[in-house]
Amino acid sequence: MAYTVPKLKDFSPAALDKAADKLLAALDKEVAEIKTESDGKTFRDRWMARKNGILTQVNDLWLKAAPKDAKRDVGQRVNELKARVEQTVDTTLDHIRGGASSKGVPVGRARARDSAFQDRVGTGSYAECLDITLPGLRRPLGAEHPVIKTMNEMVGVFRNLGYSVQEGPEIETDYYNFESLNFPPNHPARDMQDTLFIANQESKPLRDRLLLRTHTSPVQIRTMEKMKPPIRIVIPGKVHRNDPPDASHSPMFHQIEGLAVDINITFGDLKGTLDHAMKAFFGSSVKTSFRPSFFPFTEPSAEMLVSCFICGGSGRRGSEPCRPCKQTGWIEILGCGMVDPNVFEFVKGNGYDSRKVSGFAFGMGPDRIALLKYGVDDLQLFFQNDIRFLRQFA
Ligand code: PHE
Repeated sequence: MAYTVPKLKDFSPAALDKAADKLLAALDKEVAEIKTESDGKTFRDRWMARKNGILTQVNDLWLKAAPKDAKRDVGQRVNELKARVEQTVDTTLDHIRGGASSKGVPVGRARARDSAFQDRVGTGSYAECLDITLPGLRRPLGAEHPVIKTMNEMVGVFRNLGYSVQEGPEIETDYYNFESLNFPPNHPARDMQDTLFIANQESKPLRDRLLLRTHTSPVQIRTMEKMKPPIRIVIPGKVHRNDPPDASHSPMFHQIEGLAVDINITFGDLKGTLDHAMKAFFGSSVKTSFRPSFFPFTEPSAEMLVSCFICGGSGRRGSEPCRPCKQTGWIEILGCGMVDPNVFEFVKGNGYDSRKVSGFAFGMGPDRIALLKYGVDDLQLFFQNDIRFLRQFA
């Protein structure tokens, strides 16, 4: 006889236990009898239908009918039963759809009650479920992501020059990201970097408020706080800006920063170092060119271009115009400049006296360099993690 939900007269814990056991026994029995997908659907409707399904009846006949003082206990039990039934129905339906019954595992027992499955394993009928002639799982070897590869290569160039690698946090304070880099509060230069701020920080002083760092430059200050001059460092890392994603923008991207501080460092050192680094990275035939620019933390500031390594600087590829350099023969690679004395003021306690030391800094975007280097036309491809795309770089 099919199970029906009884009306309860007795709501004592013992009586409720008994009623719940009966219901669960009926559930198990019905699960074991399911063979086809349509059995599964009938089963689901019988237990779960809003209108008059077994769970609905339990709600009406047990919970709603319970006297006031038993309501809490009954409510809890009914919730537990509901969860059990729902889970059983879900796993049972999944199991039939997965077609596992064709491998000789009874649909109901093995899955609907985990403990039943465990029993089978424990008693040695495991062989029934395990086909040792199936091939093993192949775990493919990973490979460096093209952006990380580009970063490692570039960092390698500077390591060969005696630079060491530094890192810093991606969640940064206003102080390190802006203030100590000579962006005063409310200064318009802050607008150059569309910043993602962490919410609900208004009660803190401005300099302590958290944000996602918009550049790797805060690690300049962090390093100068802990290392006395002379220093030569490169800082690879992730940065964030409030830029909507498109073929050349992403709210998350990468930078490689460099900083050298010593006595008598000049703009000539900056040019010589970067020129050497570009030749080491792109090939000895590239040329570099510097144009005036502005950053609050460097003075003077410049942007550096390299002669287009795709068209060789001619602006044309055969009879076609060269697209990567927009026919100019030059590609903008980084921002740089001499460390502004105002920046040294923030770390002067650690030996950075701007009358004695000077330095240069630069920051570049390896994502864009990787795009150019590998001839990829959409930045988003780097971050979508489509294995068919990434595999091409392995
Ligand atoms: N931090 C600057 C940016 O993100 C780049 C830069 C770094 C410029 C170091 C000069 C010196 O735009």
